[in-house]
Amino acid sequence: MQRLLTGLQSSGDLHIGNYFGALKPFLDLYPKYESLLMVADYHSLTSLKDPKKVSGSIYNSVRDYLAAGVDSNKAIIFKQSDVSEHTELGWIFDCLVTVPFLQQGHAYKDKIAKGLEANAGLLTYPMLMAADILLYDTVIVPVGEDQRQHIEYAREAAAKFNNTYGETFIEPKEHIMTSVGVIPGTDGKKMSKSYGNTIPLFGTKDEIAKAVMSIVTDSKGESPEHVYNIHALFRKGEALSSLYKENKGKYKALKDALVEDIESVIGPMRERRANISDEDVKTVLREGKEKAKTLAAAKMADVRKKVGVAL
Ligand code: ADP
Ligand code: TRP
Repeated sequence: MQRLLTGLQSSGDLHIGNYFGALKPFLDLYPKYESLLMVADYHSLTSLKDPKKVSGSIYNSVRDYLAAGVDSNKAIIFKQSDVSEHTELGWIFDCLVTVPFLQQGHAYKDKIAKGLEANAGLLTYPMLMAADILLYDTVIVPVGEDQRQHIEYAREAAAKFNNTYGETFIEPKEHIMTSVGVIPGTDGKKMSKSYGNTIPLFGTKDEIAKAVMSIVTDSKGESPEHVYNIHALFRKGEALSSLYKENKGKYKALKDALVEDIESVIGPMRERRANISDEDVKTVLREGKEKAKTLAAAKMADVRKKVGVAL
């Protein structure tokens, strides 16, 4: 079976755009591979300096994925900091690439443009990510479009190492997660936490209702377009069209129906999430660590020999 690996860097509370755009496509994909799901906690130190936030985001990321339906028996779920081979290999890659090459990184350039602190970790971020991927002979890396360049960097790191020390690493392929398209928010624009137009994925029923009631409707048409477009994610075909036919012009009734349909999908996930304790997360990560460490240690033994530090 081919290997798949992806990394999670928690970016706060998930919304249904994240679910349909990233989580759901991942859920459909990962059981077809030998999958590793890694919490990129060392990557998060490039921006997070508050230890409570760092550990909070580890718990949150794992909880989100388990609640959304990832089965810890079907994927190795672990955190980066538990497998020290990641930072070790990252260093070796740092010594193979040039600073100007790293300065081309979109994520680095964007962060600098936003006036964020340019710590050295931001610059070398892609080489740690290359290590995450290449340590496991990963073939496929499911990510969002924004991560495409990082996978190119990983291929470059693999090629550089192979050219310098002999064939060692597989050049991985990205698998860009594509949803049914861009999920619209309550104002009809792309749903995004930066636009304040989201429907929370793990929100309470009241929070969902509040978000749905705020969906912008224009009073002209009989079918509220923005409500319909979100509804189409939760109800399909004939069931959807007959609902909108029967409730022509009745925006409140349609919004109430949308709340119920969202709740039927989200309700069970929210309940599952509430039942995942910190101890459960730790157990999953402990088991994942053992498995990931075994694979990474074998690969690093070979790498150390190839670069000449193993005597
Ligand atoms: P946000 O725009 O809220 O900051 P992120 O950039 O953190 O969201 O998104 C994480 C992933 O979720 C993205 O890589 C993308 O695949 C997916 N995603 C986010 N918003 C949407 C959306 N409105 N439609 C489709 N996919 C989305
Ligand atoms: N950089 C990725 C993000 O911000 C997270 C990540 C870290 C990752 N290591 C990875 C993704 C390895 C895929 C593979 O989303």
